Amino acid sequence: MPYFMQAGHVPRKRFSQHRDDSGRLLCAEVIGAEGFSSDMCLLYHRDSPAAVVQVAPFDSRPVEFAANEPLLPRLFNTDQLPPGGDTVTGRRPLVGNADVTLAFVQADAPSPLYRNAVGDELFYVHDGAARLETILGVIDVVAGDYVVVPKAITHRWVPAPGCQLRALVFELSGHVRAPRRYQSATGQYLQESPYFELDLKRPEGPFLGNGEGAEVVVRTRGGLTRYTYRRHPFDVVGWFGCNYPYALNISDFSPITGSFHRPPPVHQVFEAPGCVVCNFVPRMLDYDPRAMPIPSFHSNVDSDEIIFYAEGNFFSRKGSGIRRGAISLHPSGHIHGPHPGAWESGPSRVGQRTEEVAVMLDTFKPLGMASAAGSIEQREYVYSWSA
Ligand SMILES: [Fe+2]
Repeated sequence: MPYFMQAGHVPRKRFSQHRDDSGRLLCAEVIGAEGFSSDMCLLYHRDSPAAVVQVAPFDSRPVEFAANEPLLPRLFNTDQLPPGGDTVTGRRPLVGNADVTLAFVQADAPSPLYRNAVGDELFYVHDGAARLETILGVIDVVAGDYVVVPKAITHRWVPAPGCQLRALVFELSGHVRAPRRYQSATGQYLQESPYFELDLKRPEGPFLGNGEGAEVVVRTRGGLTRYTYRRHPFDVVGWFGCNYPYALNISDFSPITGSFHRPPPVHQVFEAPGCVVCNFVPRMLDYDPRAMPIPSFHSNVDSDEIIFYAEGNFFSRKGSGIRRGAISLHPSGHIHGPHPGAWESGPSRVGQRTEEVAVMLDTFKPLGMASAAGSIEQREYVYSWSA
Protein backbone atom coordinates (compact mmCIF):
# COMPACT_ATOMS: atom_id res chain seq x y z
CA MET A 1 0.00 0.00 0.00
CA PRO A 2 2.11 2.90 -1.23
CA TYR A 3 0.19 5.95 -0.05
CA PHE A 4 1.36 7.82 3.00
CA MET A 5 -1.16 8.29 5.78
CA GLN A 6 -1.00 9.82 9.18
CA ALA A 7 -3.55 9.73 11.96
CA GLY A 8 -3.84 11.05 15.48
CA HIS A 9 -1.07 12.57 17.56
CA VAL A 10 2.27 12.24 15.77
CA PRO A 11 5.62 14.08 16.12
CA ARG A 12 7.03 16.58 13.65
CA LYS A 13 10.14 14.36 13.09
CA ARG A 14 10.24 10.61 12.84
CA PHE A 15 12.30 8.85 15.49
CA SER A 16 12.12 11.89 17.74
CA GLN A 17 10.96 12.00 21.36
CA HIS A 18 7.17 12.08 21.42
CA ARG A 19 5.04 12.76 24.48
CA ASP A 20 1.36 12.93 25.30
CA ASP A 21 -0.36 15.96 26.81
CA SER A 22 0.72 14.95 30.31
CA GLY A 23 4.37 14.83 29.25
CA ARG A 24 4.62 11.04 29.29
CA LEU A 25 7.05 9.62 26.76
CA LEU A 26 5.21 7.45 24.23
CA CYS A 27 6.55 4.12 22.95
CA ALA A 28 7.35 4.06 19.24
CA GLU A 29 6.91 0.82 17.29
CA VAL A 30 8.05 0.27 13.71
CA ILE A 31 6.08 -2.26 11.65
CA GLY A 32 8.07 -2.50 8.45
CA ALA A 33 8.12 -4.98 5.61
CA GLU A 34 11.22 -6.71 4.26
CA GLY A 35 13.48 -6.11 7.21
CA PHE A 36 13.20 -2.33 7.64
CA SER A 37 13.86 -1.72 3.93
CA SER A 38 10.35 -1.41 2.49
CA ASP A 39 6.98 0.09 3.39
CA MET A 40 6.50 0.68 7.09
CA CYS A 41 4.36 2.43 9.64
CA LEU A 42 5.53 4.06 12.86
CA LEU A 43 3.10 3.84 15.78
CA TYR A 44 3.05 5.65 19.10
CA HIS A 45 1.75 3.52 21.98
CA ARG A 46 0.83 4.71 25.44
CA ASP A 47 2.62 1.66 26.85
CA SER A 48 5.16 -0.88 25.72
CA PRO A 49 3.73 -3.20 23.04
CA ALA A 50 6.22 -5.88 24.12
CA ALA A 51 5.13 -6.44 27.75
CA VAL A 52 4.12 -10.11 27.59
CA VAL A 53 3.03 -11.67 30.89
CA GLN A 54 2.04 -15.15 29.68
CA VAL A 55 2.51 -17.40 26.63
CA ALA A 56 0.55 -20.55 25.81
CA PRO A 57 -0.07 -22.68 22.74
CA PHE A 58 -3.50 -22.02 21.33
CA ASP A 59 -3.78 -24.55 18.51
CA SER A 60 -0.40 -25.70 17.33
CA ARG A 61 -1.56 -28.22 14.75
CA PRO A 62 -0.46 -27.16 11.27
CA VAL A 63 -3.04 -27.79 8.56
CA GLU A 64 -2.25 -30.78 6.37
CA PHE A 65 -3.00 -30.81 2.67
CA ALA A 66 -3.45 -34.04 0.72
CA ALA A 67 -2.16 -34.14 -2.87
CA ASN A 68 -4.80 -33.94 -5.60
CA GLU A 69 -4.31 -37.54 -6.74
CA PRO A 70 -5.59 -38.92 -8.97
CA LEU A 71 -5.60 -35.52 -10.65
CA LEU A 72 -9.21 -34.32 -10.64
CA PRO A 73 -11.12 -31.10 -11.06
CA ARG A 74 -13.05 -30.52 -7.86
CA LEU A 75 -16.18 -28.69 -6.84
CA PHE A 76 -16.84 -27.62 -3.26
CA ASN A 77 -20.05 -26.15 -1.87
CA THR A 78 -19.27 -23.76 0.95
CA ASP A 79 -22.92 -23.67 2.08
CA GLN A 80 -22.36 -27.19 3.40
CA LEU A 81 -19.73 -26.05 5.89
CA PRO A 82 -20.84 -25.81 9.51
CA PRO A 83 -21.63 -22.15 10.30
CA GLY A 84 -20.60 -20.18 13.34
CA GLY A 85 -17.51 -19.18 15.22
CA ASP A 86 -15.25 -16.27 14.45
CA THR A 87 -12.99 -15.23 11.61
CA VAL A 88 -9.83 -16.55 13.28
CA THR A 89 -10.68 -19.79 15.05
CA GLY A 90 -13.70 -20.55 12.84
CA ARG A 91 -12.04 -20.34 9.45
CA ARG A 92 -11.98 -23.65 7.60
CA PRO A 93 -8.90 -24.23 5.44
CA LEU A 94 -9.93 -25.87 2.16
CA VAL A 95 -6.93 -25.90 -0.17
CA GLY A 96 -3.37 -24.73 0.04
CA ASN A 97 0.32 -25.01 -0.71
CA ALA A 98 3.51 -23.41 0.61
CA ASP A 99 2.47 -20.02 -0.77
CA VAL A 100 -1.18 -19.66 0.13
CA THR A 101 -3.97 -21.28 2.13
CA LEU A 102 -7.55 -20.62 1.08
CA ALA A 103 -10.11 -20.90 3.86
CA PHE A 104 -13.78 -20.08 4.21
CA VAL A 105 -15.45 -18.60 7.25
CA GLN A 106 -19.06 -18.11 8.36
CA ALA A 107 -18.54 -16.00 11.46
CA ASP A 108 -21.23 -14.84 13.83
CA ALA A 109 -19.05 -13.86 16.80
CA PRO A 110 -16.24 -11.36 17.38
CA SER A 111 -12.80 -12.78 16.80
CA PRO A 112 -10.06 -12.71 19.40
CA LEU A 113 -7.39 -10.09 19.04
CA TYR A 114 -5.14 -11.55 16.38
CA ARG A 115 -2.24 -11.02 14.06
CA ASN A 116 -0.63 -13.13 11.41
CA ALA A 117 3.15 -13.40 11.78
CA VAL A 118 3.59 -15.42 8.57
CA GLY A 119 2.11 -13.20 5.88
CA ASP A 120 -0.61 -10.80 4.86
CA GLU A 121 -4.24 -11.90 4.93
CA LEU A 122 -6.70 -11.09 2.17
CA PHE A 123 -10.46 -11.45 2.66
CA TYR A 124 -13.24 -11.44 0.12
CA VAL A 125 -16.54 -10.78 1.88
CA HIS A 126 -19.31 -12.80 0.26
CA ASP A 127 -22.18 -11.96 2.63
CA GLY A 128 -22.65 -9.84 5.72
CA ALA A 129 -20.90 -6.87 7.21
CA ALA A 130 -18.35 -6.31 9.93
CA ARG A 131 -16.19 -3.83 11.68
CA LEU A 132 -12.46 -4.47 11.35
CA GLU A 133 -10.79 -2.99 14.41
CA THR A 134 -7.02 -2.60 14.15
CA ILE A 135 -4.21 -0.88 16.00
CA LEU A 136 -4.21 1.65 13.14
CA GLY A 137 -7.93 2.35 13.02
CA VAL A 138 -11.26 0.93 11.95
CA ILE A 139 -12.63 -0.11 8.56
CA ASP A 140 -16.35 -0.76 8.13
CA VAL A 141 -16.55 -3.79 5.84
CA VAL A 142 -19.50 -4.71 3.61
CA ALA A 143 -20.31 -7.50 1.17
CA GLY A 144 -18.12 -7.41 -1.92
CA ASP A 145 -15.14 -5.95 -0.09
CA TYR A 146 -11.66 -7.27 -0.48
CA VAL A 147 -9.84 -6.52 2.75
CA VAL A 148 -6.05 -6.55 3.02
CA VAL A 149 -4.69 -6.98 6.55
CA PRO A 150 -0.89 -6.69 6.50
CA LYS A 151 1.30 -9.12 8.37
CA ALA A 152 1.92 -8.18 12.03
CA ILE A 153 -1.02 -5.76 12.33
CA THR A 154 -2.98 -6.71 15.45
CA HIS A 155 -6.72 -6.59 14.84
CA ARG A 156 -10.07 -8.22 15.44
CA TRP A 157 -13.17 -8.78 13.34
CA VAL A 158 -16.56 -7.87 14.79
CA PRO A 159 -19.51 -9.05 12.64
CA ALA A 160 -22.45 -6.65 12.48
CA PRO A 161 -25.17 -7.48 15.05
CA GLY A 162 -27.31 -10.44 14.00
CA CYS A 163 -25.20 -10.92 10.92
CA GLN A 164 -23.15 -13.82 9.64
CA LEU A 165 -19.95 -12.81 7.91
CA ARG A 166 -19.29 -15.26 5.07
CA ALA A 167 -15.91 -14.73 3.51
CA LEU A 168 -13.00 -16.24 1.66
CA VAL A 169 -9.75 -15.97 3.59
CA PHE A 170 -6.43 -16.04 1.77
CA GLU A 171 -3.54 -16.67 4.16
CA LEU A 172 -0.47 -15.62 2.22
CA SER A 173 3.19 -16.42 2.74
CA GLY A 174 4.27 -12.83 2.03
CA HIS A 175 2.79 -9.51 1.00
CA VAL A 176 -0.20 -8.92 -1.26
CA ARG A 177 -0.22 -5.87 -3.50
CA ALA A 178 -1.71 -4.41 -6.65
CA PRO A 179 -0.20 -5.84 -9.84
CA ARG A 180 3.00 -3.94 -10.53
CA ARG A 181 1.86 -3.06 -14.03
CA TYR A 182 -1.06 -1.09 -12.54
CA GLN A 183 1.22 1.40 -10.80
CA SER A 184 3.84 3.97 -11.73
CA ALA A 185 7.43 3.65 -10.54
CA THR A 186 6.53 5.79 -7.56
CA GLY A 187 3.39 3.85 -6.73
CA GLN A 188 0.44 5.80 -8.16
CA TYR A 189 -2.23 3.75 -9.90
CA LEU A 190 -1.95 4.28 -13.65
CA GLN A 191 -4.80 5.41 -15.86
CA GLU A 192 -5.25 1.94 -17.36
CA SER A 193 -5.55 0.30 -13.93
CA PRO A 194 -9.07 -1.05 -13.35
CA TYR A 195 -9.14 0.53 -9.91
CA PHE A 196 -7.66 3.61 -8.34
CA GLU A 197 -6.74 5.25 -5.04
CA LEU A 198 -10.23 6.80 -4.78
CA ASP A 199 -11.69 3.28 -4.65
CA LEU A 200 -9.74 2.23 -1.54
CA LYS A 201 -11.15 2.39 1.98
CA ARG A 202 -8.44 3.17 4.49
CA PRO A 203 -8.55 2.89 8.29
CA GLU A 204 -10.26 5.57 10.33
CA GLY A 205 -8.01 6.15 13.26
CA PRO A 206 -6.56 6.17 15.72
CA PHE A 207 -8.68 3.59 17.51
CA LEU A 208 -8.27 3.44 21.27
CA GLY A 209 -9.62 0.50 23.26
CA ASN A 210 -10.19 0.03 26.92
CA GLY A 211 -8.87 -2.42 29.44
CA GLU A 212 -5.64 -3.60 30.90
CA GLY A 213 -4.32 -7.01 29.99
CA ALA A 214 -5.33 -8.57 26.70
CA GLU A 215 -4.87 -11.89 24.97
CA VAL A 216 -3.64 -11.85 21.37
CA VAL A 217 -3.63 -14.93 19.15
CA VAL A 218 -0.67 -15.02 16.79
CA ARG A 219 -0.43 -17.21 13.71
CA THR A 220 2.96 -18.78 13.13
CA ARG A 221 4.09 -21.43 10.66
CA GLY A 222 3.42 -24.03 13.32
CA GLY A 223 -0.12 -22.99 14.21
CA LEU A 224 -1.48 -20.49 16.73
CA THR A 225 0.09 -19.13 19.93
CA ARG A 226 -1.68 -17.09 22.61
CA TYR A 227 0.18 -14.17 24.20
CA THR A 228 -1.18 -12.29 27.18
CA TYR A 229 0.01 -8.67 27.27
CA ARG A 230 0.12 -6.35 30.27
CA ARG A 231 -1.64 -3.61 28.27
CA HIS A 232 -4.31 -3.66 25.63
CA PRO A 233 -2.80 -3.33 22.11
CA PHE A 234 -5.36 -0.70 21.08
CA ASP A 235 -3.42 2.07 22.78
CA VAL A 236 -1.96 3.79 19.70
CA VAL A 237 -2.50 7.55 19.90
CA GLY A 238 -1.05 8.27 16.47
CA TRP A 239 0.74 6.70 13.53
CA PHE A 240 2.04 7.38 10.06
CA GLY A 241 3.38 5.39 7.15
CA CYS A 242 2.41 3.29 4.15
CA ASN A 243 1.84 -0.12 5.73
CA TYR A 244 -1.81 -0.34 6.76
CA PRO A 245 -4.99 -2.31 6.11
CA TYR A 246 -7.36 -1.25 3.37
CA ALA A 247 -10.43 -2.45 1.48
CA LEU A 248 -11.55 -2.42 -2.13
CA ASN A 249 -15.10 -3.27 -3.12
CA ILE A 250 -15.42 -5.56 -6.11
CA SER A 251 -18.08 -3.24 -7.57
CA ASP A 252 -15.39 -0.57 -7.90
CA PHE A 253 -13.32 -2.76 -10.21
CA SER A 254 -13.90 -1.33 -13.71
CA PRO A 255 -13.80 -4.25 -16.15
CA ILE A 256 -11.65 -4.11 -19.27
CA THR A 257 -13.68 -5.37 -22.23
CA GLY A 258 -13.00 -5.72 -25.94
CA SER A 259 -14.33 -6.57 -29.35
CA PHE A 260 -12.74 -10.01 -29.03
CA HIS A 261 -11.74 -12.13 -26.05
CA ARG A 262 -9.57 -10.48 -23.40
CA PRO A 263 -7.46 -12.98 -21.44
CA PRO A 264 -7.72 -13.48 -17.66
CA PRO A 265 -4.84 -11.12 -16.75
CA VAL A 266 -7.11 -8.15 -17.55
CA HIS A 267 -9.22 -9.29 -14.61
CA GLN A 268 -6.33 -9.29 -12.13
CA VAL A 269 -6.81 -7.50 -8.80
CA PHE A 270 -3.82 -8.52 -6.67
CA GLU A 271 -0.54 -10.37 -6.76
CA ALA A 272 1.26 -12.17 -3.95
CA PRO A 273 4.15 -14.63 -3.73
CA GLY A 274 3.26 -17.70 -5.77
CA CYS A 275 -0.24 -16.60 -6.76
CA VAL A 276 -2.49 -14.00 -8.32
CA VAL A 277 -6.09 -12.99 -7.59
CA CYS A 278 -8.47 -12.03 -10.41
CA ASN A 279 -12.17 -11.27 -10.51
CA PHE A 280 -14.95 -11.45 -13.05
CA VAL A 281 -17.49 -8.67 -12.66
CA PRO A 282 -20.63 -7.56 -14.51
CA ARG A 283 -19.54 -6.38 -17.94
CA MET A 284 -20.28 -6.25 -21.63
CA LEU A 285 -19.29 -9.43 -23.44
CA ASP A 286 -17.11 -9.38 -26.59
CA TYR A 287 -18.93 -7.23 -29.12
CA ASP A 288 -17.45 -7.89 -32.59
CA PRO A 289 -20.11 -9.77 -34.63
CA ARG A 290 -17.52 -12.49 -35.30
CA ALA A 291 -16.53 -12.82 -31.63
CA MET A 292 -16.91 -15.97 -29.55
CA PRO A 293 -17.86 -14.46 -26.19
CA ILE A 294 -17.36 -17.54 -24.10
CA PRO A 295 -14.12 -18.90 -22.61
CA SER A 296 -12.11 -21.34 -24.72
CA PHE A 297 -11.25 -24.78 -23.40
CA HIS A 298 -7.96 -24.59 -21.54
CA SER A 299 -5.69 -26.63 -19.29
CA ASN A 300 -4.01 -24.07 -16.99
CA VAL A 301 -0.57 -25.13 -18.17
CA ASP A 302 1.36 -23.60 -15.28
CA SER A 303 -1.18 -23.01 -12.55
CA ASP A 304 -3.94 -24.46 -10.42
CA GLU A 305 -7.12 -22.40 -10.76
CA ILE A 306 -9.64 -21.75 -8.01
CA ILE A 307 -12.88 -19.93 -8.82
CA PHE A 308 -15.36 -18.78 -6.20
CA TYR A 309 -18.81 -18.22 -7.70
CA ALA A 310 -20.19 -15.19 -5.89
CA GLU A 311 -23.20 -13.95 -7.87
CA GLY A 312 -25.03 -14.65 -11.13
CA ASN A 313 -26.06 -17.72 -13.09
CA PHE A 314 -22.63 -18.83 -14.45
CA PHE A 315 -23.93 -19.38 -17.94
CA SER A 316 -20.86 -21.15 -19.35
CA ARG A 317 -21.03 -23.78 -16.60
CA LYS A 318 -24.79 -24.34 -16.60
CA GLY A 319 -25.53 -27.94 -15.67
CA SER A 320 -22.28 -28.49 -13.80
CA GLY A 321 -23.78 -28.21 -10.33
CA ILE A 322 -22.11 -24.87 -9.71
CA ARG A 323 -24.21 -22.56 -7.57
CA ARG A 324 -23.76 -19.38 -5.54
CA GLY A 325 -20.99 -19.90 -3.01
CA ALA A 326 -19.41 -22.85 -4.82
CA ILE A 327 -15.66 -23.17 -5.37
CA SER A 328 -14.11 -25.03 -8.31
CA LEU A 329 -10.54 -26.28 -8.46
CA HIS A 330 -9.25 -26.86 -11.97
CA PRO A 331 -5.71 -28.16 -11.61
CA SER A 332 -2.85 -27.71 -14.03
CA GLY A 333 -3.00 -30.44 -16.64
CA HIS A 334 -6.74 -30.93 -16.64
CA ILE A 335 -8.55 -29.66 -19.76
CA HIS A 336 -11.79 -27.87 -18.93
CA GLY A 337 -14.06 -25.19 -20.36
CA PRO A 338 -17.69 -24.46 -21.20
CA HIS A 339 -20.33 -27.03 -20.41
CA PRO A 340 -22.21 -28.92 -23.11
CA GLY A 341 -24.51 -26.53 -24.95
CA ALA A 342 -22.82 -23.39 -23.65
CA TRP A 343 -20.17 -23.33 -26.38
CA GLU A 344 -22.76 -23.80 -29.12
CA SER A 345 -24.90 -20.93 -27.84
CA GLY A 346 -21.88 -18.62 -27.52
CA PRO A 347 -22.53 -16.67 -30.78
CA SER A 348 -25.94 -15.60 -29.51
CA ARG A 349 -24.23 -13.82 -26.61
CA VAL A 350 -22.23 -11.33 -28.73
CA GLY A 351 -22.48 -7.85 -27.27
CA GLN A 352 -24.69 -8.90 -24.38
CA ARG A 353 -23.99 -8.29 -20.72
CA THR A 354 -23.10 -10.78 -18.06
CA GLU A 355 -24.00 -10.13 -14.44
CA GLU A 356 -21.74 -12.85 -13.05
CA VAL A 357 -19.39 -12.10 -10.18
CA ALA A 358 -16.56 -14.50 -9.39
CA VAL A 359 -13.20 -14.39 -7.63
CA MET A 360 -10.30 -16.42 -9.00
CA LEU A 361 -7.06 -17.54 -7.36
CA ASP A 362 -4.32 -18.90 -9.61
CA THR A 363 -1.40 -20.57 -7.86
CA PHE A 364 1.91 -21.52 -9.44
CA LYS A 365 2.45 -24.56 -7.23
CA PRO A 366 -0.07 -27.40 -7.01
CA LEU A 367 -2.81 -27.07 -4.43
CA GLY A 368 -3.48 -29.78 -1.90
CA MET A 369 -6.77 -30.30 -0.11
CA ALA A 370 -7.55 -30.04 3.59
CA SER A 371 -9.98 -32.43 5.22
CA ALA A 372 -12.80 -29.83 5.27
CA ALA A 373 -12.71 -29.68 1.47
CA GLY A 374 -13.37 -33.39 1.19
CA SER A 375 -16.44 -33.06 3.38
CA ILE A 376 -18.13 -30.56 1.03
CA GLU A 377 -16.96 -31.91 -2.33
CA GLN A 378 -19.45 -32.66 -5.08
CA ARG A 379 -18.29 -36.07 -6.26
CA GLU A 380 -18.28 -37.03 -9.95
CA TYR A 381 -17.72 -33.37 -10.94
CA VAL A 382 -15.03 -34.57 -13.35
CA TYR A 383 -17.71 -36.22 -15.47
CA SER A 384 -19.98 -33.16 -15.66
CA TRP A 385 -18.54 -32.08 -19.04
CA SER A 386 -19.68 -35.34 -20.64
CA ALA A 387 -23.09 -35.48 -19.01
FE1 LIG B 1 -10.44 -22.30 -16.15
